[in-house]
Amino acid sequence: MSVDEKLANIELFSELSKSELKKVGKLMTPVAVKAGRDLVREGEPGREFMIIVDGTATVRRRGRVIARLGPGDFFGELAVIAGVPRTATVTADTDMVVEALNRREFSTLLDESPKIAKKILVGAVKRLHELEEGVVR
Ligand code: CMP
Repeated sequence: MSVDEKLANIELFSELSKSELKKVGKLMTPVAVKAGRDLVREGEPGREFMIIVDGTATVRRRGRVIARLGPGDFFGELAVIAGVPRTATVTADTDMVVEALNRREFSTLLDESPKIAKKILVGAVKRLHELEEGVVR
């Protein structure tokens, strides 16, 4: 499957037309990440939002596993939206491919698609709630 086909299968993009998807695709940069690498680190400033195309990652806060993420999941929205330090560390469990957007590209994505913006908003609020409740998986 090509990266384009994989993008079309990502839930976040499921309500977009082909032309909308093409536009959104231009905002993103595919990045290959080796297993074991940290994609973002708790406490550091956040400059990128990422969507997983391939592979899986573990989310840890204060060393404890709080979630596992896989293809179609996104992360890094909290620090980028709010300008706060990263709330957790996300580590690649396998070799991965992620699509990365910097602050400006992420902001354009939200402007271009209210449907995506809503999904990210719902995800962010759920995660904040879990962080507050100290949910551990
Ligand atoms: P950010 O704080 O920028 O960097 C760490 C990321 O981990 C965070 O954005 C979220 O995308 C993600 N994250 C934080 N808490 C959770 C959670 N409870 N479940 C899944 N992902 C989370």
